[in-house]
Amino acid sequence: MSVGGFARKLLGDRFFPIAGHYYRAIFVDLEKVARAAVDEIPQGALVLDIGGGDGAPLNCLLRLRPDISVTMIDLNPWIGGAVAPELRSRVVMWPGTSVRDYIVGGGPKPDCIMISDVIHPIPVHHRDQFFKDVRELVGDGRPPVIIKDVEPGDPRSYLSLWADRYISGDKTVSLISRAELGRAMAKAFGHVDARETALFREDRPNYSMVFRLLPNACSSSQGNRSTPSPSASAKPQPRGRTE
Ligand SMILES: C[S@@+](CC[C@H](N)C(=O)[O-])C[C@H]1O[C@@H](n2cnc3c(N)ncnc32)[C@H](O)[C@@H]1O
Repeated sequence: MSVGGFARKLLGDRFFPIAGHYYRAIFVDLEKVARAAVDEIPQGALVLDIGGGDGAPLNCLLRLRPDISVTMIDLNPWIGGAVAPELRSRVVMWPGTSVRDYIVGGGPKPDCIMISDVIHPIPVHHRDQFFKDVRELVGDGRPPVIIKDVEPGDPRSYLSLWADRYISGDKTVSLISRAELGRAMAKAFGHVDARETALFREDRPNYSMVFRLLPNACSSSQGNRSTPSPSASAKPQPRGRTE
């Protein structure tokens, strides 16, 4: 069992989220993460939070933007535990759901996609497929894709890498730089506009980038033919969906 798993067992459902809050604050300021993204999200958007985890980053964002709602998907069967009770009605959770499952299940088409600290734990050889799945999800729409991750090479980056490996027990973790992320998204998306937010300046080594598909990318050879449409199927019912 990882140190993190042991701490969860020891502290239980009541105290683990509190400890988690202080532990996370060593590595990232969630208020700054939310502020960097807040103006990138369209009015009234349905935001798809891919790999939402415990949902802690959503609290600041949902408070800053009362007009938006969120659908959170994650491979993990236990998600959303840190979403504040008063915000839960604005978050639909799809535990045990990958991007691919969401596409196949005809999940509602998002107006904005958020991917926060999800890329660096994905083994490097699986990342291209992940980006391709995100590209397919975007289809011929134009939802901004906001990706938050951690730039390697900073003392705090080494600390977070060490913590992921030896406290969370995630041995495959490997940080992705802004330049590498830009290249990976360009490869998967074809024509894409990439822009960095203020996050790196505000909370280094954390960064976030906003990607938007450019108009002529829709006719490119990238796979985008099976975009889920909100009306394509009756209400999608993924495994263990909770609201
Ligand atoms: C380090 S956690 C980040 C959680 C949250 N976004 C945050 O910033 O606190 C990464 C999460 O991504 C999820 N994940 C990884 N690959 C995924 C995929 N292909 N589809 C959905 N979730 C994925 C993992 O299960 C994990 O919960």
